[in-house]
Parts: sequence; structure tokens; C-alpha cells
Amino acid sequence: MAMDYAEIVKEVGSLRAPPNLDDYERTRREWSWDRVRADLGLRDDFVNQAYQCIDRHVYDGRGEKTAMIWEGADGAIERYTFEDMRRQTNRFANVLRKLGVRKADRVFIFADRIPELYFALFGVLKVGAIGAPLFSAFGPEPVAERVKRAEGMMIITTPALLPKVNAIRGDLPSLKHVMVIGHRAAVTAAEGDLDYGALMAEASDEFEIERTGAEDWSIMHFTSGTTGLPKGAAHVHGAVVGHYATGKYALDLHPDDVFWCTADPGWVTGTSYGMFAPWSNGVTQVIYEGGFGATRWYDIIQRHRVTVWYTAPTAIRMLMKGGSRIAKQRDLSSLRYMMSVGEPLAPAGVVWGVEAIGLPFHDNWWQTETGAVMITNFPALPIRPGSMGLAFPGIEAAIIDDEFQEITQPMQEGQLALRPGGPSMFRTYWQDEERYNSRFKGGWYLTGDRAKRDADGYFWFIGRDDDVINTAGHLVGPFEVESALIAHPAVAEAGVIGKPDAMAMEIVKAFVALKDGYEPSEELRRELIGHARQRLGPGVAPREIEFVSSLPKTRSGKIMRRLLKARELGLPEGDTSTLEED
Ligand code: PRX
Repeated sequence: MAMDYAEIVKEVGSLRAPPNLDDYERTRREWSWDRVRADLGLRDDFVNQAYQCIDRHVYDGRGEKTAMIWEGADGAIERYTFEDMRRQTNRFANVLRKLGVRKADRVFIFADRIPELYFALFGVLKVGAIGAPLFSAFGPEPVAERVKRAEGMMIITTPALLPKVNAIRGDLPSLKHVMVIGHRAAVTAAEGDLDYGALMAEASDEFEIERTGAEDWSIMHFTSGTTGLPKGAAHVHGAVVGHYATGKYALDLHPDDVFWCTADPGWVTGTSYGMFAPWSNGVTQVIYEGGFGATRWYDIIQRHRVTVWYTAPTAIRMLMKGGSRIAKQRDLSSLRYMMSVGEPLAPAGVVWGVEAIGLPFHDNWWQTETGAVMITNFPALPIRPGSMGLAFPGIEAAIIDDEFQEITQPMQEGQLALRPGGPSMFRTYWQDEERYNSRFKGGWYLTGDRAKRDADGYFWFIGRDDDVINTAGHLVGPFEVESALIAHPAVAEAGVIGKPDAMAMEIVKAFVALKDGYEPSEELRRELIGHARQRLGPGVAPREIEFVSSLPKTRSGKIMRRLLKARELGLPEGDTSTLEED
């Protein structure tokens, strides 16, 4: 089944701009990253993501254009032009330089989506330091693990989140500064802590941006694997070339668009597409501080006349659950293009978009490591509902077998792989070169996803090749959850899996074996869930805990999560020859 987007758009009459990419084959054939660089105005060795996203527009005469329309959770609306952004980020860069923050220092930002989060992150990029935004719902433990792993020298946070930082700061030897931002409010910073507002008030709004080059570090996002704690995927300033290109050709951004990406900058989608892609294209962007709410979301689209909307399958499923009536009661006619990423988008979600809003959702695929969209359903091509789409021009994607050979027969399952290189790809896992190298084999970058490709080159997702859990589009590493659980005195061992869920795709489920002297009880189950939520935060902690007398392990002592999952799903247990159990 293919869905002809052009036909659908003709029907709803909202194709107000021809797509930027109108001929996929020709664009692919003629693709040159150098041409994109030139298009982005990159002439010499200087590349800085903050400059490309902000200052450039001011110098090109677009300073008075609105860059950010911010809507607070309480309904307050603030607007910032590119010139406002330039001044604010310059101020913050001056603050950082005065504090002694230098090139490649790691600066963490642990805040809700307030305007200052964006000023701070771009300020970090202007001094050439590495910005590491963290999801504000994280509990103290994931924050501590990440700051430790990257030896962060500073955490920028808000009064509401400060208690979580206070709980761990003594345990972070690399930490030199804690800065507190009060959005439109005074803060009472503890002794020794820095007050964002006071420092910004004293800082100059002129700043000479660090002369960063394409390969200089810019941003770090943590991502989970099967084993060990999260790894810091480090990106470089040159990635903006990928953000700009995918913003233009995959998101189809036009100069007059009002773009809304619902993702948080704590995850890569919220920076690559909640900052760099729209702003490098000079597009006005809506930023909403709050979380999901069907009515509120439709109101945001209507109020700000959003034209291009980027969201995720869990949100789409929640909208579907609310029914199309709420959507139809709003004027959503401003919308021109809708996209989805992070988890498989079922054909029903694509079709529902047409029925409720008049437009289909375009699925696309990428990862923290790839930094930008790699595979997408393009605006000029018919959508194949259920497929992630075609490789982006300039990107070579393939399905490979266990010997790292390309599988050319259509619809054969294998691992999804990419040819290494390209501007937006991560350049390392911070201080874990070995792990980074393990992702490249036989001339391919291994994505860790299973997929197949049809005869026309469209990719179809099958599943992950590892134990990482995808809950509402957020990856959770089982080891991080197991570690938190075994820190409880009652827990002897824990095994954590993703349990399929109709709404969130997967939820985190833990199997727990208790130490001698502890008995399973409803009370203890609740206590363990509370313990995990307190440490990890609600998005990472298990939603379900099941007590077991022991966990299946390999002879070398590794918990067999796959077996736990097979048992949970009532599936065949597969090869259990390495099982050590009774
Ligand atoms: O398993 C794939 C899934 O999300 C993983 C990447 O997650 P993360 O590193 O957090 O990056 C988020 C940026 C999109 C992938 O390895 N995934 C992502 N997009 C899709 C998807 N699974 C199915 N369909 C997609 N469109």
C-alpha cells in the first residue's frame, strides 16, 4: 500500500509551497555535501553551530525575524527574534568565559524547556565548550552517572531541580560550578552557587565566538546500550551541515514556516530538530514548556499557526486515543507537513493523520549516534505506511548479514547498516573508544536495528538487536535500572526487560530476586518501585516489578534478559544451551 501525499495534499488544498526536494533520484545522484556547506554560507574553516543558527541570520538582515515563540506551561507566551537570541547567547558566553569555561569543557544543562535553556546551550557552543542537556525528569542517579562519565565541570539548573543536584554534588569531583536559572523570577542560590540572572545582567551582549572548526566538539547526548552505563555520544560543530540539509529536504522547511518539534533537548531530537535544523534554516520555531496534552497541543498548532510539525508515535497514539473529534474542532489548516520519529509508526497512525487532520504523518529513522535523519518518507514521494522511507541523499544505508555483507534480495531481514562518514555522525563515545570502534565493522556503521528493504529501496523496521528498551521513544538501558534496584537492601538480583505496551511501545519491567530474609509482598513491590523512581526518575524506573526466586543466567553469570522476555511473552525460549539454571 502506498499513500500518495501529493494527492492527499491536493484534496485538503494545503500544499502552499512546492517541496524543496522534488526529484529524489536526481537529488541523490547529484548530491554534494560541499554544495550544502556553500548553501549554508560556510566559506572558510570556521564552523560554529551557534553562529550558523543565530548570528548568521542577523548579519544577513533577518535579525528582526522571530526565532522562538515560547509558550510556558502556565500559558505565558514570549517571543524572541534572532537578534534577541544573539544578544542573550553572547551574554551567556561572556558569563562562561569569565568563569573560566574553555574549549571542550563539559557543561551540563538540567532544566525544563525554558528560553534560558536555549540561551545557555548556544552560549556554551559559542565558547567552544561541549553542551550536555539532560532530561529534567531524570532522578539524581542518571544525572550523576552522566556528569561523572563526562567529567562535567558545571551544571546549569533551575530552583525546582536543584534538590536533585544537591543530592549528588558531593559525589562529583569534576564539578566546579552549579548555576541556577529562575525564569522571570529571582533565585536564592545557595552559598557558592551561581545566579544566572545576576551574572547575565552584568555581562556584555557582544562576544567574539570561539573559532571552532567542523571537527571541534559541540554537544553530547547520552545513549544506552545492553551492558554498562550510558555512553556519551559526542558530536561536532560540522554536524550543522547535516541538520541544515535534513531540515530543508526531510522536514521540508521553508523560510516562512512555523515549526514545532515536541521533543525535549535532553534527547537528541530536541537539539538536532528542536534547535539546529530549524534555526540553521532561519525558521521560526515554537517551543512548548509543558508535556503532552491533546487539547493543549491542538491549541498550540492553532494559536501559533504551526505549519510543520515533528512528533513521535507514542504521542500520535495518545492523540488517536483521544479521538479525531477534538482535532476537528480546531482550525489546524495551517499545517502543511507532519513527521514522526523514535519508534515504529504503525500504518494506522499514518492513516489517522489523514482522517483527523487532513495530512499523513511521515515516518523517519535515525539515532543519537547518527545525529540527523538518515532514512525518511520524503514529501515529494508517496508514503509507504509502515515503512521508515528511503535513505537521505548523501547517505548510503543497507541491510547486512552476520558476515557484514550486504543483502540485496528484497525483504530479507538483516541488520540495518550505514556507510560511515557524513557531517552529523557522532565522532566518539566519550572516553570509550573501544565501544565506539565496536560499532564499525566490515566497512559499515552498525545501527543495532533489525530491518529489511523492499525492491524500491524503502526500509522497514523489525526490531532492535539488543536489550535496550524503547519506552515512548526514549531508550532505557536495562543495566542502569538493574543497578538502581540492587542498591536496595532487599534485592539480591534484578533483570530488566521491555514489556510490549499498546501506548508506550514498551514499558520497563523488572524481575527481582530477593535476599534471604525478605519475602515478596505488595508493600515491598511498591517500595521498590518508589525506590527506583526516586533514584532514576519516572521515565526510567520500572513500571512493573515481578518477584522471582532466581534469574536465568548464563554459565558466566550474565542475566539472560532475552529468556526473561520470551517467558514474559509466552514465546519459545530459543537457544538455552548456555543457561546455568536448574
Ligand atoms: O531502534 C531505533 C528506534 O530508536 C533508536 C534510536 O533512538 P535514539 O538514539 O534515542 O535516537 C532518537 C532519535 C530518533 C533506533 O535505533 N527508532 C528511531 N526511529 C525509528 C525507530 N524505530 C522504528 N521506526 C523509526 N522511525
